[in-house]
Amino acid sequence: MTVGLGTGSTVAHLLPAIARRGVGEIRCVATSLATEEQARALGIPVEEFSTLRRLDLAIDGTDEVTPDGWLIKGGGGAHLREKIVAAAADRFVVIADSSKPVDALRGPVPLELFGFGIASTLARLGKEVELRDVPASPDGGVIADFRGPIGDPAALAARLEADPGVAAHGLFPPAMVSELFVGRGEQVEVARLGG
Ligand code: A5P
Repeated sequence: MTVGLGTGSTVAHLLPAIARRGVGEIRCVATSLATEEQARALGIPVEEFSTLRRLDLAIDGTDEVTPDGWLIKGGGGAHLREKIVAAAADRFVVIADSSKPVDALRGPVPLELFGFGIASTLARLGKEVELRDVPASPDGGVIADFRGPIGDPAALAARLEADPGVAAHGLFPPAMVSELFVGRGEQVEVARLGG
């Protein structure tokens, strides 16, 4: 089985659970160096994401999730790799604690911007976008946040995708998400979504 491993504090709980089940024939790719290091330390094999064409499954956390399945991801700045891994997966499963469901997305929406022409990209995107004071991404991207009103997430996603300086944004549509697991105390609520 080929598995994409997400990034964040929720996924940090997932990895020991995967290791405890035994990893057998599993082949994994990681969405961040932190996940890669933790997985390897637990004996979970991680390989570069360069030759695998598809993944059977990807599992990741989220910063926010709406009742209809829109996500905001990228609080840890890993959203570009997370989106590539999610898009490659036959099943994209999101795991969240009870603090993550929201009635409507609040933001900010994380961005990864190309370094080339960064001043012009920022000028186009306007004052609602602020650079985040963090190192460049593993792909050389500049991490920023859109702090304006979100309104219709599909419209904002389309607007951000139309700008050539934006490498990725942290809005993940419901069509990408196969299942959502939300932990509430000892209970787990499961929702099947569009992906
Ligand atoms: C990393 O960039 C993020 O997309 C995380 O997957 C997301 O923010 C969830 O993180 P936590 O599990 O730490 O809340």
